[in-house]
Amino acid sequence: MSTQNKFERGHIDPQTVNGSNRVIIFDTTLRDGEQSPGCSMNLEEKLRMAAILDDMGVDVIEAGFPIASQGDFESVQEIARTVKNATIAGLCRAKASDIEASAEAIAPAKHKRIHTFISTSPLHMKHKLQMSPEDVLDAIYESVSKARQYTDDVEWSAEDGSRTEDDFLCRAVETAIKAGATTINIPDTVGYASPADYGAQFAMLIERVPNMDKAILSVHCHNDLGMAVANSLAGIQNGARQIECTINGIGERAGNAALEEVIMAIRTRNDVFPYENNIDTTMITKASKTLSSITGFNVQPNKAIVGANAFAHESGIHQDGMLKDNRTYEIMTPASVGLTESELVLGKHSGRNALRTKLSELGFDLGDNAFQDVFKRFKDLADRKKTIFEEDLVSLVSADALNELETIQFKSLRVHAGSEGPQKADLTLTIDGEEKTASTQGNGPVDATFNAIQQLFPHPDVSLLLYQVHAVTKGTDAQADVTVKLEENGKTVIGQAANVDTMVASARAYIRALNKLLIKREKQTIDMNP
Ligand code: KIV
Ligand code: ZN
Repeated sequence: MSTQNKFERGHIDPQTVNGSNRVIIFDTTLRDGEQSPGCSMNLEEKLRMAAILDDMGVDVIEAGFPIASQGDFESVQEIARTVKNATIAGLCRAKASDIEASAEAIAPAKHKRIHTFISTSPLHMKHKLQMSPEDVLDAIYESVSKARQYTDDVEWSAEDGSRTEDDFLCRAVETAIKAGATTINIPDTVGYASPADYGAQFAMLIERVPNMDKAILSVHCHNDLGMAVANSLAGIQNGARQIECTINGIGERAGNAALEEVIMAIRTRNDVFPYENNIDTTMITKASKTLSSITGFNVQPNKAIVGANAFAHESGIHQDGMLKDNRTYEIMTPASVGLTESELVLGKHSGRNALRTKLSELGFDLGDNAFQDVFKRFKDLADRKKTIFEEDLVSLVSADALNELETIQFKSLRVHAGSEGPQKADLTLTIDGEEKTASTQGNGPVDATFNAIQQLFPHPDVSLLLYQVHAVTKGTDAQADVTVKLEENGKTVIGQAANVDTMVASARAYIRALNKLLIKREKQTIDMNP
């Protein structure tokens, strides 16, 4: 739980923030991040991530794009109901229906923000919007004014802002502020900016826009050229006071600026970036791991801050230096990002209270039914695996806790494997409440299992893009962590599951991906034009 909270959250006053070294942290993991291929999350997963973001001290949580689907609307609304401190933002195009949907979805929040955007670059205005610059200015004024009818915290974004001409950007920003925008975001939508250009754009806006002091400038950078974090910091050095970022840097294409990298750069190089924020950095590892286990996106081992090797020292020279004084090769401590040694946390004899307490420490506050289900599976796991680590619990809860809420539920699997074929699978699933069984053959036990799923829930247009297995912890009794990536009509989803039995984990991961595909089918493809 965050203990920092240097600054009061909720009411964000441009006049106070602009004159200070405070930087507002706006997390868009649940919107820009969730929008990226394979990263869709269901309601429970979004709520769990939102609670962690709130605990870690994020100022604004962009909870989704309410007009995109009924599911998006409901999750923004539920996040708005449950989050305690952070401001909840809902994204919308410059369209009345989008703004109304956002306003309704965020209505239950203690602190609410409407975030509306429209493109401003010549390329986007001409080819994507097919609107004249004057019409875009009118749309900005109308959309921001409409949003202000619902809340006094309105953010306006100039999509493709980094490729917008200075004169027009100044007019657009001035118009948005006149209409009542209190935050002005200049996204580097396509990850094209360089730190020098992007920084200069903020300095230019501060110098030229007459009402600029009435709003907070914000950075929003994509990582297509690997410069999202550098660009974000350049924006801040030039007067921006809000950073939009995501956990693990997930997001469209190459992703967004990674929250953990921005925050640790500010903390570690405070001599160069003398800014303050509310983030409790010791929650970074938990946020990163939880997101990975939810989405099935494991971060690359050498990823800054949260990669498995980020604090590993392999070479003899480095190890020798570390033993003498860890400052020789470590610019930040593992503890500062909440990284602790894998601990043996629970065993075969642990009871309900111990499990509930541990799960709660890990950020899982489960309802009674879900908890009973997890407890049963924890006992099964403890019977089959001597030592249970935090990672085991995270996998157990993340991958399986929702089984009871999903359309397709795993019931049982028996596999015939080995050198004497044919390999067979007997699989029982519950589909929309009805139990069904299939017995199938295949080229190996995994193929036989996936054929059984296909037979029970036909999905001929879906292709399997990835099947990957790795061990959650060490030892031959470690749980297998299986990731399955599926694709249908260009939409991809990822399912992940862990089990001491690789075949069970495989079936569950595949089923989980299928369930996510059902959520994805609901979402309309949003036309980004107004
Ligand atoms: O990258 C972008 O331009 C965006 C906007 C919708 C804010 O995500
Ligand atoms: Zn974006």
